[in-house]
Amino acid sequence: MGSIERAGIVPKKGELMRDKTKLFHSLLNSVTETVNGPRDKNEKLNVICKLLKDKVPYYDWVGFYLVCESKRELMLGPFAGEPTEHVRIPFGDGICGQAAERKKPFIVQDVSKEINYLACSVKVKSEIVIPIFKNEGIIGELDIDSHTLSPFTEEDRRFLENVCKMVSELF
Ligand code: SME
Repeated sequence: MGSIERAGIVPKKGELMRDKTKLFHSLLNSVTETVNGPRDKNEKLNVICKLLKDKVPYYDWVGFYLVCESKRELMLGPFAGEPTEHVRIPFGDGICGQAAERKKPFIVQDVSKEINYLACSVKVKSEIVIPIFKNEGIIGELDIDSHTLSPFTEEDRRFLENVCKMVSELF
């Protein structure tokens, strides 16, 4: 157990960077336990959103979008954070829709520089979107908004890809 969990407090940025690897390792274990646990799919997705939002200080909105292939759009699923007006997002629209079309993770370190962006709140400074794959097709996305500029590293991307691999087992 890392010092972040022992203390049970939100770490300062320097401490977070030192402990990020440990934090992500511990969170991936919790995600695995949740996926393999007794709840139903939506409850599990809700628990995972809340876990990521509560434990990573710069994850301020965490939610899942699910693919509706026939309409080529994303539908908002379980999330943690402020309600959003973006309940349905056509493929190609915004950061989420672009990630769905490209079928690749999309990191925007400064949303003010992204023209194709659907704003949820003026507080949001950056965003990361990770596709969820099943049988080589995209079935959904994990979307995270941050109130911090440029907070996401390769470590976040790798961690969140692993979270999405675990989550794909629920579908
Ligand atoms: N900003 C997203 C819309 C979804 S919200 O972040 C919850 C986008 O540009 O696709």
